[in-house]
Amino acid sequence: MNLKGKVVVITGSSSGIGKTTAIRFAKEGCKIVVNYKNNILGGEETVKEINKLGREVLLVQADVSKPAEVIKLFKKVEKKFGTLHILINNAAIPNDKVPYLEASYEDIIDLVNTDLIGPMMCSKEAIKFMQKQGFGKIINTSSIRGAEHGGRSVVYAASKAGVNSFSKTLAKMVSPNIQVNAVAPGFVKTRNYDKLTKEQLDSFIEQTYLKRWVTEDEVADAFIFLAKNDAMTGQVIYVDAGFTLK
Ligand SMILES: NC(=O)c1ccc[n+]([C@@H]2O[C@H](COP(=O)([O-])OP(=O)(O)OC[C@H]3O[C@@H](n4cnc5c(N)ncnc54)[C@H](OP(=O)(O)O)[C@@H]3O)[C@@H](O)[C@H]2O)c1
Repeated sequence: MNLKGKVVVITGSSSGIGKTTAIRFAKEGCKIVVNYKNNILGGEETVKEINKLGREVLLVQADVSKPAEVIKLFKKVEKKFGTLHILINNAAIPNDKVPYLEASYEDIIDLVNTDLIGPMMCSKEAIKFMQKQGFGKIINTSSIRGAEHGGRSVVYAASKAGVNSFSKTLAKMVSPNIQVNAVAPGFVKTRNYDKLTKEQLDSFIEQTYLKRWVTEDEVADAFIFLAKNDAMTGQVIYVDAGFTLK
C-alpha cells in the first residue's frame, strides 16, 4: 500500500512506541489520529511533532477499554477524515500492576479489557470503513510475553497471546481485502522502565542474544513495513533483539 495520504489511527500514541510510530507514519505522508487516555500533554506533544511535518492530525481522548468511548473515537475519525485505512492497536497496560495471585477480578478485567478487548472493539469499528472501501490494514501490538510464557505478568502474557490468536484468526475472516498482522516488541526502554534499578535493567538485556534494547524507531520500522506490504497477513513479527530465539 502506498502510504501517502492514508488515514492512520494509532491508539495509545501519547507516549512511547505509539508516539514514535505516529510521527513515523506522518513522515510517510499519512494523516494521523492520535489517541490517549490520561496523558493529554503527551498527546499534544505528538500532535505538535506531526504539525511540524505539515500533516493533518486529529487528537482524540478515548479509553479503549470502554466500548462507548471506542465508538466515539471512530465517529470522530469519520467526521474529520470520512474514512480510515490503517488501524494500529497499540494502547495497553504494560504489565500486571498487581501480581496475579493477589489480583482482584477488577484488576484482571481492567487489563484484559484494555489489552485484548480494546483491540477487538477498535478493529470492529475500523473494519466497517475498510469493508466499504475494499481495503485496509490492522496491525496489533503484541509482545514477546505473548509467546514466551515467562515474566511475572500472567494476565498481560495471556492477553498478548490472545492478541496473537486474534490477529491470525481475524486475518482469515477479513481476507482477501483486509490484512491483519502483529508486531511483538522485545524490551523497549519506554517510561515503564523508569523506576527500575540498573541491575533490573541489565537483567532484561542479558536475556537477549543481541545484548541490547530495541528502540522505539526499530519497532516503528516494523509497523511501517507491514503497512506497506500487501502480501502478508496473519503474521506476528518479533522485533526483540533475539529474546525469543531458542
Ligand atoms: N516497552 C516495551 O518494552 C514493550 C514490550 C513489548 C510490548 N510492548 C507493547 O507496546 C505498546 C506500547 O507500550 P509502551 O512501552 O510504548 O508504553 P507507554 O509508553 O506506557 O504507552 C502506552 C500508551 O497506551 C495508552 N493507553 C493505556 N491504556 C489506555 C486505554 N485504556 N485507552 C487508550 N489509551 C491507553 C497510554 O495513554 P495515556 O498515557 O494517555 O493514558 C499510552 O499512550 C503496548 O501495547 C505494550 O504492551 C511494549
